[in-house]
Amino acid sequence: MEKTFLMIKPDAVQRNLIGEIVKRFEQKGFKLLAAKLMTIPEATAKNHYAEHKDKPFFGDLVSFITSGPVFAMVWQGENVIETSRTMMGKTNPQAAAVGTIRGDFGMVTHRNIIHGSDSLESAEREIQLFFAPEEIQNYTKDI
Ligand code: CMP
Repeated sequence: MEKTFLMIKPDAVQRNLIGEIVKRFEQKGFKLLAAKLMTIPEATAKNHYAEHKDKPFFGDLVSFITSGPVFAMVWQGENVIETSRTMMGKTNPQAAAVGTIRGDFGMVTHRNIIHGSDSLESAEREIQLFFAPEEIQNYTKDI
């Protein structure tokens, strides 16, 4: 079953939005396999955002994402990568549709509430970067 890495960013954690955001993915029907509140080490942040290392906003991105706790998660479900990104909305919250997470809670691109993997390859890479295999749960039975 497909897995993705989702991360509630420092802006949303500070605004007490963890429960609201987790609720949306639970209600949709996805399964939470792992979650932790953590402050990202600078080296991990640079690794996570390596594809943006030459962008003018890279320094700001790393300092923002390491500025306070994030809530890192692994979610599982059919087509979870694409569907979770639809639920998140566009990167720029002002362009994100009302009803999406960024559309409902965000105001600006550099404080856009949540990150989600954009492909199978990035999901695998990001899950490994943030979680040890033993931290990721399995659901073996329907209850
Ligand atoms: P995210 O999905 O976490 O992946 C890369 C992040 O870079 C993106 O969300 C935005 O928060 C951030 N970002 C993209 N474009 C800009 C920009 N022009 N200025 C600042 N941050 C940006």
